[in-house]
Amino acid sequence: MTNQCEFQVSEDIDDILPVIYGVFQEQGIELDDSYVSNILNTLSEQRGFKGKAGEFLILHISDNGHYRTFVLMGLGEAKKLTGELLRKYSGDLSRLLRRNKIQAAQLLLESCQPMAESTTVLIGNLVEGVILGLYKFEKWKSGDAEASDYFLNLVIVTDDDQSKEHAIQRGIKVSRGVMLARDLVNSPANRMTPTNMAETAQGIAVQNILDVSVLEESDMEQLGMESLLGVSKGSVEPAKLIVLEYKGDPDNPKNNIAFVGKGITFDTGGISLKPPGGMENMKGDMAGGASVLGVMDIIAYLQPKINVLGIVAASENMPGGKAQKPGDVVKAMNGKTIEVINTDAEGRLVLADALSYAESKGIVNVIDIATLTGAMVVTLGKVCTGYMTNSSEFGFALCEAARVAGEKFWELPLFDEYDDLIRSDVADMKNTGGRQAGSITAAKLLEKFVGDMNWIHLDIAGTSTASKDDGSNVKGATGHPVLSLVQLVVNMSNN
Ligand code: BES
Ligand code: MN
Ligand code: ZN
Repeated sequence: MTNQCEFQVSEDIDDILPVIYGVFQEQGIELDDSYVSNILNTLSEQRGFKGKAGEFLILHISDNGHYRTFVLMGLGEAKKLTGELLRKYSGDLSRLLRRNKIQAAQLLLESCQPMAESTTVLIGNLVEGVILGLYKFEKWKSGDAEASDYFLNLVIVTDDDQSKEHAIQRGIKVSRGVMLARDLVNSPANRMTPTNMAETAQGIAVQNILDVSVLEESDMEQLGMESLLGVSKGSVEPAKLIVLEYKGDPDNPKNNIAFVGKGITFDTGGISLKPPGGMENMKGDMAGGASVLGVMDIIAYLQPKINVLGIVAASENMPGGKAQKPGDVVKAMNGKTIEVINTDAEGRLVLADALSYAESKGIVNVIDIATLTGAMVVTLGKVCTGYMTNSSEFGFALCEAARVAGEKFWELPLFDEYDDLIRSDVADMKNTGGRQAGSITAAKLLEKFVGDMNWIHLDIAGTSTASKDDGSNVKGATGHPVLSLVQLVVNMSNN
């Protein structure tokens, strides 16, 4: 990730710098300078610009011997604008500026102000939208031909002088956490092995003074994690259970939350080998784990009053000579046995032990994040993350956080009847449930490893990557759901 922009704040409008102005639907432009306002309103009307959401218009005018550029940003209906939408529009704006080679501009924040949002929050949303919208993954491009050297200087014009600098810094830090997750997901699997993920986690810990420990295969054997270890048997890359700990409320150890991420650095399917078409996308099968690292990086900066544990179950799913086979039975850390019907249903196997591990650490609230099932992409597409939970209250808290973060979640049920689908003849359960309700049966298996913890399962198979640039997302890894999880932790620490 390279930094592609810099932010400043100013109370005054500059005469020369291009102006970015938010226009509400059917409301027109109202600057202090009525001469300029008139020109802009006339020209935008001629061009059919209505201020609809997502609409942009660039106008160049001559004013008092200066040539000036105005970028009009449609905001839709005034009463519908929210901070989250501003984050989205800022992403689109940033790429419009890049396409038009506008390297410096001033944004009149007042023109984009939703009714019920503080300037501090808005600045954060704006900064996040711009940085994330300009994100590119160019680490492995060697020529200068395609690598972009675009850099944006953005001045935010506002006379609200409440802690603006802090809002910018926070937005930058939050964006960097999201981009960290994106970088990991976009990285090829030969450059992002379980060992590389563990090193990344150690780097985050050192920079932030977090506690880090990496459990090696021998440690996991001691703990009886056969379910997790079974997955890496076919690979020469050793599995790692990466644990990052942030102690924000050491006097109240029960005030805690854990994030458990699926970190399959490449998923071939194992002996139940996947077909070759699109298999390269399985380098991103560690997106859940990547989001955990992103969240921990941000949490350590924000320092909320709550204890947060980040766990990544990192492993590679390969069909080597020692690989586990369909029909194998593994015994997980909590003593339960699983018949491995399909070695491609490996995510639930590594998460099962990672969830038990969280429980053994006294965790009260846990969220697992995983690119778990193709069935989830069929069900909800790439629009929202499907979630399942044993606590509707916890689920509601997540949705509240997600609204502020501008990310979408939708609940699926965990009715007892679904248990029938993963009943095994030889073990306590089997790891696949056939064609029916594929995302739910996966979660049903996980449910057997969460004990008494309040638990949410997030299946991000669809949402961890985007197929096109849109708002603060760009094609490729999205870094979802880092923003929502960070917001949730912040909300929980304030309660
Ligand atoms: N990593 C895949 C799920 C996936 C599919 C993520 C597409 C992102 C995009 C997971 O490990 C998997 O292979 N799941 C199987 C489960 C099946 C064998 C029960 C699937 O969804 O086909
Ligand atoms: Mn798989
Ligand atoms: Zn997988």
